[in-house]
Amino acid sequence: MLVNTKEMLLKAKEGKYAVAAFNVYNLETVQAAVRVSEELQHPVIIALGERYFDTVDVEGFASLVQTIGAKSSVPVSLHLDHAYEKESIIRAIRAGFNSVMFDGSKFDLEENTRLTKEITEIAHMAGVSVEAEIGSVALGAFSDEEEGTGTLTDPLEAKKFVEKTGVDFLAAAIGTVHGMYKGEPNIRLDLLDEIRNLVDVPLVLHGASGTPDEIIKEAVARGICKINVNTEVSLAATRHLDEMFKNGNQKNEHLSNIMAEMQKSMEPVMMKFVQLLKQSI
Ligand code: 13P
Repeated sequence: MLVNTKEMLLKAKEGKYAVAAFNVYNLETVQAAVRVSEELQHPVIIALGERYFDTVDVEGFASLVQTIGAKSSVPVSLHLDHAYEKESIIRAIRAGFNSVMFDGSKFDLEENTRLTKEITEIAHMAGVSVEAEIGSVALGAFSDEEEGTGTLTDPLEAKKFVEKTGVDFLAAAIGTVHGMYKGEPNIRLDLLDEIRNLVDVPLVLHGASGTPDEIIKEAVARGICKINVNTEVSLAATRHLDEMFKNGNQKNEHLSNIMAEMQKSMEPVMMKFVQLLKQSI
């Protein structure tokens, strides 16, 4: 069934578990995310980034996710990930997305607050929930996200930001990176505690790929309700494809088989994340 992302995350907060937001780009990524979530009987967020608006038919894609989500045995929501333009947010709302992320992290706090508040008012009128980011998640390896400064979230600023903007969930920068880590991860769980103590809305962790399992579990236990996963899933598929062709293992090169193989190769990675998020410590 399709549900409102805010309701899904408030339940997660209460139940002390988290929901994965898998970035998707095509039918196979959507099918993999829903299939794995049904197998583990856990809700899932299907996240499409604004950066794919040039290559993906947004309205067609929304219909596809809505159809798959409506017949799913677990709650599914459709989320717009990292949007920088108001036009994209309005387009997603019109297409029936359940939530949107406005990423104003490149602006100073005052401007981020002003723009986020404006977006939140528009989205709320349509019954759509809003995520925003304060601080800025840095860029690691193999990601296709935008460069971030790596500025950690200030807990007091986060509290004021949420109060002033009315956002429904907040992405907190605590040291994870978009993509794989270039060195040792330094995730500030103590900072997460401080933010959690001051901010009441569900918290979001971006940059799950490459983050040690124990840290993810601990972050969920300390109040993260949504975990964004992209690069690790994409790498599983592209590396599998590379292996298939490199070793001459690909006996049937028909595109339909290759797409099915790619879906299969993504599922174990998604499974790992959902299993981690289901359990609270
Ligand atoms: P990763 O690519 O590190 O999994 O991060 C995804 C993300 O945060 C998308 O918003």
